[in-house]
Amino acid sequence: MVRRLVWTAGILATVVVLALAGLAVYVARTWDRTYDAPLPEVRISSDPTVLARGEYLIYGPAHCVECHSGSFDALEKLSEGVQVALSGGLRLALGPLGAVYSKNLTPDTETGIGRYSDAQIARMMRWAVLPDGRATVEPMMPFGNMSEDDLVAIISYLRAQPPVRNVVPANEWTLMGKVIKSFVGVAKPRKSINPPQTAPPQGVTKERGEYLARYVADCAGCHTPRDPNTFTATGPDFSGGFEMEPLATTGVDQTVWFRTPNITPKAGSALMKFPDRETFIARFQKGGRHYAGSPMPWEAFARMTTEDIGALYEYLHSLEPQDGPVGEPTFKKAG
Ligand code: HEC
Ligand code: HEC
Repeated sequence: MVRRLVWTAGILATVVVLALAGLAVYVARTWDRTYDAPLPEVRISSDPTVLARGEYLIYGPAHCVECHSGSFDALEKLSEGVQVALSGGLRLALGPLGAVYSKNLTPDTETGIGRYSDAQIARMMRWAVLPDGRATVEPMMPFGNMSEDDLVAIISYLRAQPPVRNVVPANEWTLMGKVIKSFVGVAKPRKSINPPQTAPPQGVTKERGEYLARYVADCAGCHTPRDPNTFTATGPDFSGGFEMEPLATTGVDQTVWFRTPNITPKAGSALMKFPDRETFIARFQKGGRHYAGSPMPWEAFARMTTEDIGALYEYLHSLEPQDGPVGEPTFKKAG
């Protein structure tokens, strides 16, 4: 009897060990695999109105600059009106998964996008596939359905900047991060996209607001509840509750985390704090950062036009009210 038990336990242990070994082999082979995603055709332009549109998007609603400028001092300069360089190197913590570093988006031929074709840059924005074919963290850059003309404007502006040499550190994936990358959809390329040819024109319309909130400014990326390990949405869009690490700025208490507020029109939500469109617009253009270390890209958003912020307000007010977190957006993270 006892012998039989020991025998059964032995078999079980062997099965577990073999399963774990199989998992380890699978993860080792797949976590950093490359993908065949389409290389979109783009025709960049040197037309000054196209470049101006690209510049507005990069330093404003699409806030590429908040991640790709590479330092928090740069964000202060941004608030003072300086067009800080997009030379990359910012460390973005992904909780238990590790950290990724933003890349150098200036045309330097050794350390920047000078190494890549327009199609490789477009593929990254559209399909969440890095220039070398590996997948990235998809919700970080939600540009799959950005309009064709906005995408062209952005890449055209990137190509027109002066090159800056800056070597960016390699990403740091923990074991858990590698497992997630092997199995979870948000760390895989987008499956399908359907970008419009032209963006809804600037104007205080819901359509323009939705376009910005989903495909340009990523309000949906941060203000949607998400599983902390897989970043998969766990509730309605814009209802808040995603727990985010603070920015790793000096002087910021790294144990104080953020829980994104509800921005649907529910009584008590962050949206309903604003009695009208004008106060909402003023919050973005003049209010600035109230919480040191908040991941919300206030500096770039302050540069949005009155029409674009007004459009966001109209769109958010057109949503179904949803329950979400109430009260302070910060909390103390244990351990
Ligand atoms: C929330 C932060 C964030 C925002 C906003 C952001 N990026 Fe990125 N970007 C990153 C990070 C981090 C990486 C590196 C990802 C990785 O290694 O998996 C990256 C990588 C890239 C790459 C690949 C470059 C290379 O050398 O591998 C391109 C191209 C790019 N971003 C363009 C843009 C553009 C254009 C915008 C704005 C329209 C933008 N990004 C907005 C964080 C961001
Ligand atoms: C990178 C993540 C991120 C993105 C992108 C983001 N937010 Fe936020 N947002 C936050 C966090 C975190 C807070 C809470 C801390 C704070 O107020 O700075 C916040 C706060 C807010 C507030 C409350 C402000 C107040 O005065 O109480 C509003 C309104 C808001 N966001 C709207 C938006 C809209 C609209 C967009 C898109 C244009 C957006 N957010 C994009 C993370 C984000």
